[in-house]
Amino acid sequence: MEIQQLSGALGGEVTGIDLGDLDDGGFEALHRALLEHGVLCIRGQDITPDEQIAFARRWGEIHDHPYLATLPGHPEIIEIVKEPGERNRFGAHWHTDQIFTPVPAMATMLLAKEVPPVGGDTLFTDLYSAYDALSDGMKRLAARLATFNLYNKQADRSRVMKAKVTAPETPAEPAIHPLVRVHPETGRPALYLNDPRVTRRFDGMTEAESRPLIDFLMAHCTRPEFTCRVRWAVGTLTIWDNRRLMHLALDDYPDHRRVMHRITIKGTPTVGLEQARVAA
Ligand code: SIN
Repeated sequence: MEIQQLSGALGGEVTGIDLGDLDDGGFEALHRALLEHGVLCIRGQDITPDEQIAFARRWGEIHDHPYLATLPGHPEIIEIVKEPGERNRFGAHWHTDQIFTPVPAMATMLLAKEVPPVGGDTLFTDLYSAYDALSDGMKRLAARLATFNLYNKQADRSRVMKAKVTAPETPAEPAIHPLVRVHPETGRPALYLNDPRVTRRFDGMTEAESRPLIDFLMAHCTRPEFTCRVRWAVGTLTIWDNRRLMHLALDDYPDHRRVMHRITIKGTPTVGLEQARVAA
C-alpha cells in the first residue's frame, strides 16, 4: 500500500490495495492512515455492493440515515444520483455528517460508480488545524459553547431526497453538541459545527446572537490552507473521519451524470474539551 499526501493539512491518496481482499494487517494500516490523514481516497476498487458493505462493517456498525432512501436490495447503501440538468443540493454546502443526530456518524465512505469527465470533486477541511489556529481567547470561549443542530430538508432537496417521499414524514429533532469536540481515538480537539442551515445557533443563545460567531467560524474553518480536494474516478472509494472534518460536494458539472454509493459508520457520543479534562 502506498499513500501520497493530498495537501499540507490533510488527505491521503492510497494505491496498491484491494478492499475486496484485505487482511487484518491491511485493515489496521488503513485505520492508522485514516487517523493520520483524516480522509483517504483509495483508487481502483472494483468491488460489489456486498464487498463495500463488508468493508464498511470492519469500521463499526452501519449508521442508518434517518431521512435518506437506500439502494434496492442493499438497505445499508444510499445511492446518490445527480442527472444531467439537475441541480445538486445533496452535500453541496460545508458539513460534517449527521451532526443533527444525538450520536453522529464516525465515518462516511463513497464509492464512485459514474463520474463526470471533469468536475464533481469533493472538498474536505481539517477541523484540528482550524481549532489550533484560533487565538487562546477564542479557544477559551469556544470550549464553553455547545451547538444547536437541526436537519434542514429544504437544503438537501435532491434526487436522493425525492426518493424518500414515500417514507413517513417525521419531524426533525434537534441535537446539541460541544463546539470543541475531542476526538475519541487521537484525543485531539477539533471545532465541530455545520453551516447555519443545520447549526442554527449556540445552546442558550438566540439565532441573531449566534450568527456572527457561526459565520466567523465557518469562514475560519474553510480557509484554503486547511483543505484538500478529491478528484474522482470510477472505482475510487473515499472514506473520511467526520470527527475532524467538514466536506462539500461541488456542483460544477451541469451536463453530466454522477452516481455514488454511500455508507456511513456509527459513531460514539460527542465529548467536549471540559468533559474530557474532567474524565482524564
Ligand atoms: C456527502 O455529503 O456525503 C456527498 C459528498 C459528495 O457527493 O461528494
